[in-house]
Amino acid sequence: MTELQFDRHRRLRQTSAFRDLVRETHLHTDDLIYPLFVLEEEGKKHEVPSMPGVYQVSIDRLDEEIEEIVSLGIKSIILFGVPNHKDDVGTEAYNDEGVVQMATKRIKSIAPHLVVMADTCLCQFTDHGHCGVIHDEYVDNDATLPLLVKAAVSQAKAGADVIAPSNMMDGFVTAIRHGLDEAGYTNVPIMSYAVKYASAFYGPFRDAAHSAPQFGDRKTYQMDPANRLEAHREAQSDVEQGADLLIVKPALSYLDIMRDLKDRYDQPIVAYNVSGEYSLIKAAAQNGWVNEQEIVLEKITSMKRAGADLIMTYFAKDIARWLNE
Ligand code: PBG
Repeated sequence: MTELQFDRHRRLRQTSAFRDLVRETHLHTDDLIYPLFVLEEEGKKHEVPSMPGVYQVSIDRLDEEIEEIVSLGIKSIILFGVPNHKDDVGTEAYNDEGVVQMATKRIKSIAPHLVVMADTCLCQFTDHGHCGVIHDEYVDNDATLPLLVKAAVSQAKAGADVIAPSNMMDGFVTAIRHGLDEAGYTNVPIMSYAVKYASAFYGPFRDAAHSAPQFGDRKTYQMDPANRLEAHREAQSDVEQGADLLIVKPALSYLDIMRDLKDRYDQPIVAYNVSGEYSLIKAAAQNGWVNEQEIVLEKITSMKRAGADLIMTYFAKDIARWLNE
């Protein structure tokens, strides 16, 4: 019999030490950004029903939460505010005493070195739930920009270390950059939600942030999941306008886009492992259908492998615990 010729790939897989030596992608606690829902209402800590293990926390109950995050070695959080009052122009988003601003001050006083990122959008603050102001049932791009600028400046003034605009209006990066610079915040970076799809994976977040649109949907400003080249154009605009970091959102169904952006741009790429991606795994794990730890580490590793430098994830505390074990 003639001898068969083939490569022996299994040589490098035979023990866990070998596998450790040749592993190409490593997760680190430094990669993680933990999203936090802050309530303006006092004295509360509520579990979000569709996101087991994720809480909305009042400003006066934040201390314990922040101490836990810091003790796990997590370096950064992103804040989503749940205000007591909403109106048609999202006034609370740019109130210097609004929920995000007050929470930022509180957190910076407890943990000055924790990097506090502020999500900059109007949808949690508008009574209609859209990310901008409405004229004739349409979200008015140019009328929204000045309000986003006011929100970003107010967040920076409260001490936010990073401004993270998620509203998908055109021109938001240049408008906010200009506004921050004029107000003296030249050192505050912009982490742009450069590529954000109109996704069904945001459902649980809208429960947690009380931000579901009250009519229509977000398809006139968020992107069509079918489009790839459009993501390149979106990212290109944000890079030209001065974005410091680029987010791809959601993460898991968009790994191809993450890889594209990593190959095209030198800015750090951030994956947003969104609420629906969290809830699907949680539900299956609670039924005993999947091994939660293994499946979470596998999927977060896949995001890094696809080019993400940082990962925003509701699993951040669990991952930090597992990595510390
Ligand atoms: C909108 C915003 C959304 C999320 C964060 N900010 C999406 C939306 O409601 O359109 C979703 C995050 C998640 O699902 O985890 N400003």
